[in-house]
Amino acid sequence: MEKNEELYRIVDALMQEGKGLLAADESDGTAAKRLELAKLPNTQENRRAWREIMLTTPNLEEFISGVIFFDSTIRDTASLGMPFADLVAARGIVPGIKVDKGLVLVENFGEETVTEGLDSLATRLREYHDLGARFAKWRAAFTVTPAPSDEVIMLNAMMMARYAALCQAAGIVPIVEPEVLYDGEHTIEAAQEVTEKVLVWTCDVLERYHVDLKACILKTSMVLAGKKHERSSPADVADATVRTLHIAVPHTMGGIVFLSGGQEAKQATQNMHAIAKLGTQPWRISTSYSRALEEPMLKVWAGKEENIEDAQNVLAHRAHMNGLAQKGMYDESKDI
Ligand code: G3H
Repeated sequence: MEKNEELYRIVDALMQEGKGLLAADESDGTAAKRLELAKLPNTQENRRAWREIMLTTPNLEEFISGVIFFDSTIRDTASLGMPFADLVAARGIVPGIKVDKGLVLVENFGEETVTEGLDSLATRLREYHDLGARFAKWRAAFTVTPAPSDEVIMLNAMMMARYAALCQAAGIVPIVEPEVLYDGEHTIEAAQEVTEKVLVWTCDVLERYHVDLKACILKTSMVLAGKKHERSSPADVADATVRTLHIAVPHTMGGIVFLSGGQEAKQATQNMHAIAKLGTQPWRISTSYSRALEEPMLKVWAGKEENIEDAQNVLAHRAHMNGLAQKGMYDESKDI
């Protein structure tokens, strides 16, 4: 058996046609921003109720292949006592875990950040594997303006390479996520320049540290003008994004998934669709959205028991639309 055979099988399970990942891995702190949309305080009980509503959504497994959890959620149980990781695995959805410990400022580099979390990561990965996780996520973040320094891009790339190698040694597929932030007034050209450099260097360092790219998934931002700039058209986003991927990402990469980054839910779907419409690429490509999947359902739920079914329908609908977009079969006129 090839060394990483099991990891390749996990990548295959995650990168299925017509399916994407649900990034439900907000930290307990960030959960406050989501729960605000449902007009609820950020309590453990409300976080659990929200995740339970999402993960018990009928037919979710038709469009979602994997769910990324935060530490406290993978240790938590749904109301009937079943651990969340077992609940999704029983539905044929692969449980995953965010393992980084967030961003901290890099001394002497202004507002630039590096991601922490390598300390005792090998031990934590063993524990997460026992809890059912079969893939992991590590996120670094870069602004377009000001552009990141070479030193900080390299520092983050080395952290991600070490993380990815540790994951693969633990039987866990690493998702490497160097996010280029959508916030700001920058042009699509500026976003392209930064994304290209970040991805080229990240992939290069992964290879230098002998990470098996076939057993790895890259999670990246789409290339688009900043949120405060005039919105880039889906055709422009698709063109700039695919061009950047061709420059930066080796064809051996197991898969590429996009984060939504604060795009509106439909915008994120339209852009995925435009990318898919450019035709077959060397990599399998899909979505790994958090806000673009969760925000619409949270607003409909509004913390009320009687809205749960509607909220689940909204989540299933968005996941379905993204699944169609992934296949280049999205029809905006049918997207309510
Ligand atoms: O790290 C970011 C999440 O995995 C994706 O979140 O789709 O809201 O950008 P987002």
